[in-house]
Amino acid sequence: MHSEKERYTLTAALPYANGPVHIGHLAGCYIPADIYARYLRLRGRDVLFVCGSDEHGIPITIKARQEGVTPQQVVDKYHKIMGDAFRDFGISFDIYSRTSADVHKKTASDFFLNLYEKGELLEKSSEEFFDPEAGEFLADRYITGTCPNCGNPEAYGDQCEKCGKSLSPDELIDPRSKLSGATPVKKPTKHWYIDLGKHQDTWLKSWIAGKKDEWKPNVYGQCMSWLGEGENKLKPRAVTRDLSWGVPVPEQVPGHEGKVLYVWFDAPIGYISATKDFFERGNKPAWVKGENWKDYWTQEGGSSLIHFIGKDNIVFHCIIFPAMLEAHGGLLRPDNVPANEFLNLEGNKISTSRNWAVWLHEYLQEMPGREDELRYVLTSNMPETKDNDFIWKYDGSDSTTDSYQAKVNNELVNNLGNFVQRVLVLTQKYFEGKVPEASQDILGDEHAALYARIRDSRSQVEERLERYEFRAALLELMKLSGYGNQYMQSFEPWKLFASDPQKTALVLHNCIQLTAHLSVLLAPFLPKTAARLQKLLQLHNADWNTLDQDRILAVGTELGAPEHLFKRVEESEINRQLEKLEAARKASEADKPAPAAEESKAIAAAKEEIQFDDFARMDIRVGTILEAERVPKADKLLQLKVDTGVDVRTILSGIAMHYTPEQVVGRQVCVLINLAPRKMRGVESAGMILMAEDSEGKLHFVRPENIINNGADVR
Ligand code: 2FM
Ligand code: ZN
Repeated sequence: MHSEKERYTLTAALPYANGPVHIGHLAGCYIPADIYARYLRLRGRDVLFVCGSDEHGIPITIKARQEGVTPQQVVDKYHKIMGDAFRDFGISFDIYSRTSADVHKKTASDFFLNLYEKGELLEKSSEEFFDPEAGEFLADRYITGTCPNCGNPEAYGDQCEKCGKSLSPDELIDPRSKLSGATPVKKPTKHWYIDLGKHQDTWLKSWIAGKKDEWKPNVYGQCMSWLGEGENKLKPRAVTRDLSWGVPVPEQVPGHEGKVLYVWFDAPIGYISATKDFFERGNKPAWVKGENWKDYWTQEGGSSLIHFIGKDNIVFHCIIFPAMLEAHGGLLRPDNVPANEFLNLEGNKISTSRNWAVWLHEYLQEMPGREDELRYVLTSNMPETKDNDFIWKYDGSDSTTDSYQAKVNNELVNNLGNFVQRVLVLTQKYFEGKVPEASQDILGDEHAALYARIRDSRSQVEERLERYEFRAALLELMKLSGYGNQYMQSFEPWKLFASDPQKTALVLHNCIQLTAHLSVLLAPFLPKTAARLQKLLQLHNADWNTLDQDRILAVGTELGAPEHLFKRVEESEINRQLEKLEAARKASEADKPAPAAEESKAIAAAKEEIQFDDFARMDIRVGTILEAERVPKADKLLQLKVDTGVDVRTILSGIAMHYTPEQVVGRQVCVLINLAPRKMRGVESAGMILMAEDSEGKLHFVRPENIINNGADVR
């Protein structure tokens, strides 16, 4: 899956500067990007890792209005909070820039001008909503009114937050401007558009098709679901807006007045401006071998461009930004976009408005010194192929073995920490803290097995990392630590020493070497712990090549005094976090009246008895949704292409009120495949996706607990 390139441009999605960052952001994009960057640097590759704050867009201006400050004040505040949190968690950006910086405004403006002058932009007039009292055009979010679906009087022009329905301002009953309360009117305005359909036909579709085996299936599937045919071909996308906050449309362009670049046009260009910002600052670390931004962005520079993002950003990074880069000319296309799915918290979607989140800046204060613990838990539960859940408490049950408490106490403290601690204590006790002599011949095969195991683990970790399989890489490393524990246990050096000091020396010598290997393998994942451990081992300037030697530490090296790498998480720490969440839940419920009894669904009465044969006639299989799209004029239906293991077929599913096409692509589901086909809206649907309906009427997928082979029988 990886290209053997020497130079890498790594980007992590620019977070919006309208609020702090939470664990979902970290697990979705920043930790995987950081692990990869650290790994490549250790391998001696030429790496530039860029990020920065995304400081434009409507949510920022809305926040500024709510708080009675300027948009600049809003972004200044969150730029600092986010940048500090990333730094404290060891996210090793080479630059954390921002899109309100001058270098960005110039870069984005020049980029637009380049496209404009080449004739790459279409100019189109349209009627848009305008506030006649405030004298401003209104973004959809700035229009409120009554939801046609549920009657909520405070629905937004793009969505009703009460019933979740996507809306357009035209559908609102009695629309009002949020600026002045006036009734919006339609007014003609002109905007510039990028002609995505043109790119789709000439190179975009075939380029993405060529990534089928290289990109993650969820990423590839989502791209393909966007690239429709005929009527559904990509439409031109507006790249400007009538707003005052943003990068102004360059003044060389006639009609530029009052217009700014659309935030999703300027934000990805932010990766390029961050690179320029990096070189302008001139503090180049050794691993950045290029001389200027062009080395990392032009085709001549020959870099491999990798975008780390969450799944909600796939279309922008795989379709729109590549089209922009192509239209510009001479610039790279991404080699890979290893997007992650979402992380939930205690069974619910992370939500900023409901304060259902673990905020990084709060965690840093409340659980100081536990940064690597969180990195560990988030990596080992990373939502790589499906959404995943973060839970705090271990109650002894199987369903909580992935909790923060269990991961830290059972895996970091009891496995890794315990092994290192025992190695250091025993070396201190029997060999004055120095790496003991080792005579190789007394253990024979058993001795060789340990080093073979270390070498094997190393290559497993490498292979996984090169494929962006961070969870599996970390698991491999923890298995090696577990092996170390067992190895030591099998010899019981604390008993052996009395009868055979020479063999004890060898066993400990080997355990020390294994610890040294672990300290290097750990470095991309748990950088602070790895640094502490290497200091204890007197292992200086270790890199990936250090792992080439079986015996990293020379006999006689004096090790540091034993210390615990990790502290147990106490019940009280966990309870405090749970109490905070409970408080957030109560606050958001108090805000919102609980649904009236008649609104929530009653449990349906049991149906009449059937025989086993009745059940056995149903052919239910596990399948994967490959593509999804809305069905024109059918609010409730999604048209799905499903791999059932038996075949790939089209199924219409009434889930469109609950899931967007992007949310379902890549999911495993259970499908009733021998249901007689039925035609709906002119499309034949062959089968049924099994869903469970909760008491609120929301539909949930019924699916296997783990990803398994398509076609597996459900019975
Ligand atoms: O979804 C987001 O948080 C966006 N601010 C990501 C932008 S990524 C890039 F294009 F800058
Ligand atoms: Zn509604």
